[in-house]
Formats: sequence, C-alpha cells, structure tokens
Amino acid sequence: MKIGIAADHGGFELKQKLHSYLLTQGHDVIDFGATELNSADDYPDFVVPLARAVAAKEVERGIAVCGSGVGASVAANKINGARAALINDHFSAHQGVEDDDLNILCLGGRVAGNMLAQELVQSFLAARFTAEERHLRRLKKVQQLEK
Ligand code: RB5
Repeated sequence: MKIGIAADHGGFELKQKLHSYLLTQGHDVIDFGATELNSADDYPDFVVPLARAVAAKEVERGIAVCGSGVGASVAANKINGARAALINDHFSAHQGVEDDDLNILCLGGRVAGNMLAQELVQSFLAARFTAEERHLRRLKKVQQLEK
C-alpha cells in the first residue's frame, strides 16, 4: 500500500520508527517530513501536505504524528476529503476505517509507545471501509459539510 507519513518534532522519533516498520511490511512510504528533528518546527507544515495528498488519493492512507496527536488531527481535518482521528486504542484503529472511512491515523509520539503505535498502524492499514448503507449515509452527511 502507498502510505504517507508526517510528523513535527513531537512525533519525529516515532515517525522514523514507523517509517522503518512500514518498509519491513512491504509498503511504499512517502515521507512528508519533518526530515530532521527541529524543536521549533510546526505540525501544520507537514501534516497539511500529507492530508492534501490523502484527499487527492496520491497516497492511499496517511499517518500523522505530533506530540499528542491532537494538533495533527485538528490540522488534517481542515482539508476536504481528509478524515483524520487521534487513535490510542485497537478497536478505534480498525472501526474508524470500517465505519467512518478514516483515512489518516493520528498518533501521539509522546503518548503511544513504539509497539502500541505499530499495532495501531497495522490494525488501521488492514481495515477496509464496509460501505454499508448506514455508514455511507453518515459519510454523505459529513461530506455535505465540505461544500
Ligand atoms: C509540539 O510541542 C506539540 O505541541 C505538538 O507536537 C502536538 O502535540 C500538538 O498537538
């Protein structure tokens, strides 16, 4: 799968670890930065380009990391077509895709440990939107807000 990743300084270390992990899993990884640890950088500078790429379907899914995952989700959701959520549990990692067509997983580099983050990523990437009528109906109501 073609996966985009992005992080500010708060998520940089976890992003680097996830990048390596995704490669071992055979994914094609597009890294939207940061490319180096800079404690003065700002998450929108990396997360917004990632969200635009997900919305444009240039990548199939996105993973955005900041310190808490909050700023990343707030920024990503400003982009039409991006459906981002801060996830810290296994159930939401797959159910968010299955029911809500989540396309960007947001993680907190200062919150989630490496192994938890890996498992959340695995669960998120393995999940598929069910496209059941009730979920499509709800998604359409959300998409109406983008017009
Ligand atoms: C940066 O210090 C931190 O505020 C940011 O990474 C993130 O946690 C924002 O939600």
